[in-house]
Amino acid sequence: MAAEPKGLVECSQTPWPVITGAASGALVRTERRTVAQIGHAHESEHMKRIGILTSGGDAPGMNAAIRATVRTATLNGTSVVGYLDGYSGYVSGEYVELDDRAVGNIIQRGGTMIGTARCPEFHEPAVRRAAAASMRDDGVEAMVIIGGDGSFRGALELQDECGVPVAGIPGTIDNDVFGTDETIGFDTAVNTALLAIDQLRDTSESTGMMFFVEVMGRTSGALALQTAVAGGAAGVLVPEAVEQISELVEQLRGSFDRGKRSHIIVVAEGDEAGGAFAVGEKVRAALNHPFRCVVLGHIQRGGRPTMRDRLIASEAGAMAVEALFAGRSGMMIGRQGGVSVEVPLTEVVSRQHPTPNLGLIALAQKLSG
Ligand code: ADP
Ligand code: F6P
Repeated sequence: MAAEPKGLVECSQTPWPVITGAASGALVRTERRTVAQIGHAHESEHMKRIGILTSGGDAPGMNAAIRATVRTATLNGTSVVGYLDGYSGYVSGEYVELDDRAVGNIIQRGGTMIGTARCPEFHEPAVRRAAAASMRDDGVEAMVIIGGDGSFRGALELQDECGVPVAGIPGTIDNDVFGTDETIGFDTAVNTALLAIDQLRDTSESTGMMFFVEVMGRTSGALALQTAVAGGAAGVLVPEAVEQISELVEQLRGSFDRGKRSHIIVVAEGDEAGGAFAVGEKVRAALNHPFRCVVLGHIQRGGRPTMRDRLIASEAGAMAVEALFAGRSGMMIGRQGGVSVEVPLTEVVSRQHPTPNLGLIALAQKLSG
């Protein structure tokens, strides 16, 4: 039996307006049916057409999620449109038809075939209402939205203000979304950073120079922590832990005394001490040891998704469509304890970003030799 997912909450049945016939731009409520926000499947009418968009930063595995969404829908006789460049295409009404063949040969590709963007206009309620009305004019009945918690805030507003059924899929390399153990793209980004670190290790070992490697993650240290332990780093600095530099200096001093030559220090871009250059200078001031800095930047966003990202993306795409077809709205398909589960978007957006496993800081230090 599947484990009870920790983020699922019991929700009462809520009356959900089915909105049709919006040719004039006005919302015409023709009937009401009962749709649970989450957790209680019930009969719903056959959806003829749904939409999908990718929003925020691109992440490897988004294409696999698009493919799974489209193929699950078309198996049911439902057509899919892909809005271009996130909410920008949703607002301007720019989309492409995505049939079975359109999503062939993309499961192995990084990025997103329908483009992504940040769309400041979508913060405006009037813009959202006009976009939802135009969506209905085009016969689109529900939306699958792939992105981070910002994108999900937009999705919830679409649902609550405009009555659009929505399902979210967490896609970001930052792994900073509440309610899911991992986001699509995170595993690939860690592996990409590891590839770089493994190569830098050769030069560090050969020359004795320290390398400060800056990884992405915005305000989250999740990417840095896993990269550091898996890359055998001597230290890791993350935004969730403060004043780590003096400890790092002592650690490195001991390591040099023991004759270790190669030293990789992973710095999260959001760390309060500054990026890799700032941290490197501070450590050099204390140790007077040569160093180099490498900022991995957007290299971590691209590339072939790993098996893990393809797998969770495929499950999420299929489950998002099945939930919408079953009449549920307002959920994110997250991962909890190795299982894909529905988590209410209200929970996802109202909670703090999850704190990553800070025990990995000590583990990296302990194992670095
Ligand atoms: P992520 O989805 O990765 O967290 P952002 O926070 O940049 O990335 O959000 C992506 C996009 O989602 C924004 O550019 C905007 O179009 C939309 N969005 C974010 N927050 C909101 C909000 N509160 N209301 C409406 N739309 C939002
Ligand atoms: O959210 C994904 C991410 O790559 C972050 O890790 C990074 O801070 C940010 O996006 C970079 O954004 P942009 O591509 O707009 O420079």
